[in-house]
Amino acid sequence: MTLKNPLDMHLHLRENPILKCVAPHSIRNFRAAVIMPNLVPPVCDLTRLKDYKTQILQADEDENFTPLMTLFFKDYDEKFLQNIKDEIFAIKLYPAGITTNSQAGVSSFELEKLKPVLNAMSELEIPLLVHGETNDFVMDREQNFAKIYELLAKNFPKLKIVMEHITTKTLCELLKDYENLYATLTLHHLMLTLDDVLGAKLNPHLFCKPIAKRYEDKEALCELAFSGYSKIMFGSDSAPHPREQKECCGCAAGIFSAPVILPLLAELFEAHSNLENLQKFISDNACQIYHFNFKKDKIISLEKQEWQVPSHYGELVPFMAGELLKFQIKNVD
Ligand code: NCD
Ligand code: ZN
Repeated sequence: MTLKNPLDMHLHLRENPILKCVAPHSIRNFRAAVIMPNLVPPVCDLTRLKDYKTQILQADEDENFTPLMTLFFKDYDEKFLQNIKDEIFAIKLYPAGITTNSQAGVSSFELEKLKPVLNAMSELEIPLLVHGETNDFVMDREQNFAKIYELLAKNFPKLKIVMEHITTKTLCELLKDYENLYATLTLHHLMLTLDDVLGAKLNPHLFCKPIAKRYEDKEALCELAFSGYSKIMFGSDSAPHPREQKECCGCAAGIFSAPVILPLLAELFEAHSNLENLQKFISDNACQIYHFNFKKDKIISLEKQEWQVPSHYGELVPFMAGELLKFQIKNVD
């Protein structure tokens, strides 16, 4: 099985030393990745952005990888955006305090306040990536954000709006209602429900934002991915946290999936769909949505050979630690 130009449209790489440990998994096996800006402090200016990009490129030797950099959403003025436009792929909006390192996020979705920056982004064709959760009851947070997505989609029809890491049937349906709404979907949300996180013994390594939902939600997500639906893109949301911040009271949110992504997706798509649709999900849909045209292709070959996911990579515990997977990456060209 081969995959052409895999893209990870939502990735957390952190900074040294975690960056050094996690980045090679993505840099070697993906053609490009959208890099999240929720560092401490967040990526909000050109100097920080360029420095972070350099850190990423120095974390591994593969030159055939493009980090697609994002800025942390603030009320930037048009002049600033014009200057930085060529250096960024998109701007990522977090509601304040909703997830890891999002304290500096947006605390009010009043349209009048957001208008100047969103109009400027529309004009400059800078996509808006959104972590869509409200502060309501945890299982309702995403579906209750649907009204904000609708407000944004209606008022900024020229703005490309990406609903990040969707987890609910509600958002699967909303995606089809507005031309300018797109979505990313993780690997773990295709596999997990809340039962896996805390139905039996609590598993901190499966705790992430947004939390995995109900069986019917997972089914709706699988239906979109396995059918190769054109507005859905793969975004791993691989979000590493050191073991002592996961296996403790006050566990950090985030699943470190980078080491297992392509083998596990191949296994899932083989069981439920066909290869052609995996190619759409992992690359072709995003290429079409963003008109990507890579100078040099990256071809990943996978073969059927069982391997066991390591129990840890340094101080990081990966998704599916210790489990046997059916596919292995054989070659990268
Ligand atoms: C992410 C992180 O740790 O940065 N955590 C997570 O649970 N997904 C942030 C995010 O994308 O919400
Ligand atoms: Zn994320």
